[in-house]
Amino acid sequence: MKRAVYPGTFDPVTFGHLDIIERSSRIFDEVIVGILVNHAKVPLFTVEERLEMIERAVRQMPNVKVMSFDGLLIDFAKSQDAGFLVRGLRAVTDFEYELQMTQTNKVIAPEIDTIFLTTSLKYSYLSSSTVKELASFGSDIDRFVPAHVADRIKEKYRK
Ligand code: COA
Repeated sequence: MKRAVYPGTFDPVTFGHLDIIERSSRIFDEVIVGILVNHAKVPLFTVEERLEMIERAVRQMPNVKVMSFDGLLIDFAKSQDAGFLVRGLRAVTDFEYELQMTQTNKVIAPEIDTIFLTTSLKYSYLSSSTVKELASFGSDIDRFVPAHVADRIKEKYRK
């Protein structure tokens, strides 16, 4: 079975991430969306909230599972018996960081390969921070995230 982990912070999930998840689900038998408990970032949403929002967004994708993890990505992938990592490349600026991460992971676990998917052009400018910033100024974010995610973001900024 070809199992892949698609890791990220997903604070929150956007159409850009969902594009990568949907396309990966057509390549692999099973895709695990791995939400990192990222100590380097101060998230707007708790891990539980992020998990719930992604689960709702991938309901129509039966071979996609959503989990959270803490620690090294490679340890998480091994614990799930995944042979692949999926990363999205939005622009050339992503490349250097991704290459460094991939090569480090490859040294630690040579049996796990990283597959890059180029993010669809219409989402190549998108990031979770951009969406949050727009929402914080009351701008419309419906084009960037599913409706249930947009509602949750707006709710956070109303408080
Ligand atoms: N569409 C839209 N936005 C996208 C995107 C896409 N397809 N792909 C990435 N992004 C955005 C994210 O929204 C995020 O935006 P933000 O910075 O505004 O929040 C940004 O790009 C970075 O995204 P993400 O993919 O979530 O990466 P990350 O840097 O937060 O986390 C991990 C990357 C989880 C893979 C990495 O930190 C990791 O593996 N950590 C575990 C510890 C570890 O193993 N370290 C050793 C690594 S060698």
